[in-house]
Amino acid sequence: MENLKFPEGFLWGSATSSYQVEGGIENNDWAQAARERKVSSAGRATDHYHLYEQDFDLAKSLGQNAHRFSIEWARVEPEEGKFSQEAIEHYRKVLEALQARGLEPFATLWHFTSPIWFTEKGGFENKKAPEFFSRYCGYVVSQLGDKARFWITINEPNIYTDQGYRQGNWPPFKKNILKYIKVIKTLARAHLMSYNIIKTLNPKMQVGIAKNNMDFDSSKFNLIGRGVQIFRNKFWNHYFLKKIEAHQDFIGLNYYFHKHFGYKFYEQKNDLNWPIFPPGIYHVLKELMKYKKPIYITENGLADAKDEKRGKFIKEHLRWVWQAIQEGVDVRGYLYWSLLDNFEWAHGFGPRFGLIEVNYETLERRIRPSAWEYAKICKSNQLEIN
Ligand code: BGC
Repeated sequence: MENLKFPEGFLWGSATSSYQVEGGIENNDWAQAARERKVSSAGRATDHYHLYEQDFDLAKSLGQNAHRFSIEWARVEPEEGKFSQEAIEHYRKVLEALQARGLEPFATLWHFTSPIWFTEKGGFENKKAPEFFSRYCGYVVSQLGDKARFWITINEPNIYTDQGYRQGNWPPFKKNILKYIKVIKTLARAHLMSYNIIKTLNPKMQVGIAKNNMDFDSSKFNLIGRGVQIFRNKFWNHYFLKKIEAHQDFIGLNYYFHKHFGYKFYEQKNDLNWPIFPPGIYHVLKELMKYKKPIYITENGLADAKDEKRGKFIKEHLRWVWQAIQEGVDVRGYLYWSLLDNFEWAHGFGPRFGLIEVNYETLERRIRPSAWEYAKICKSNQLEIN
């Protein structure tokens, strides 16, 4: 038996996002798409909007000391330029509830969903989108900046543009490479402007993005595969990060995917048929070292309704995170996706990512066995391996 110790002060927690768990959001692009029957409706979801205190109690009982959640832009700015004090008060209470339980908040300002007024103006295709977005970010931080230190402006710019502008599965359901590239660039500008506004309001705020990076691989002998691997790695993993390089205080890493060009056999896949490949997190972490910024793993998780693979999944990924730390990568926290089962975008409520199972009929919460395995690591700040 070996004990792998994590650095003192390491943050342990889990993540959610507003539209996926809160319920009752009708004025954003996803709710609109559900009314048009293009995606299913999130409806009341897990009703986390009302049950957050009890959910944070559970997170605390699981030994967590950090929590990532998102603020719904459509609640805060339901009409262009008109901010809702009620929404701000709600999120103030959410932040206070986290603080009261010793959970360090990571507040995401945009996790894929936008107010309808904004999408009617073209969303992030509009040249002025960075102004709209940064005005909202500035407003939130001016109101709530005393309650959180870590702010994530944008969640996964690449997944959003890929799903919304290349594959056409998510709002605005387009398949247009020129727009895809334009929107990535606009998102980078939106981050830069927001970063500057937030830092002017309070230079102590720690501002970054949550970036989905993949582990690309190919057989040594497959020259085409190698070429694709190099290109995709540069474009998917580093293009956006390079654009905002001087304007991020930390890197938030969301790790889910390993892509091997050419055939490869995977022993394990999750319920969405995504290969499980824990060494990939080590590879992407090592590559992020060059940015010389602290790294927080802002998401890592799997859909596993039967909870058969989750415990092992978490341990194996953490084993590789630990290895990266030994080799000098400045990883300071790990936030499992997700605290609760939730609305998994175009897949609806089917996939179960939660440490906590949610019964969508009764809203009852049940802690899954793997959550206790993770809790052991969180509480002891170390990973026991056999
Ligand atoms: C997103 C989450 C999503 C998770 C699992 C990430 O891409 O940030 O919103 O639920 O992956 O697919």
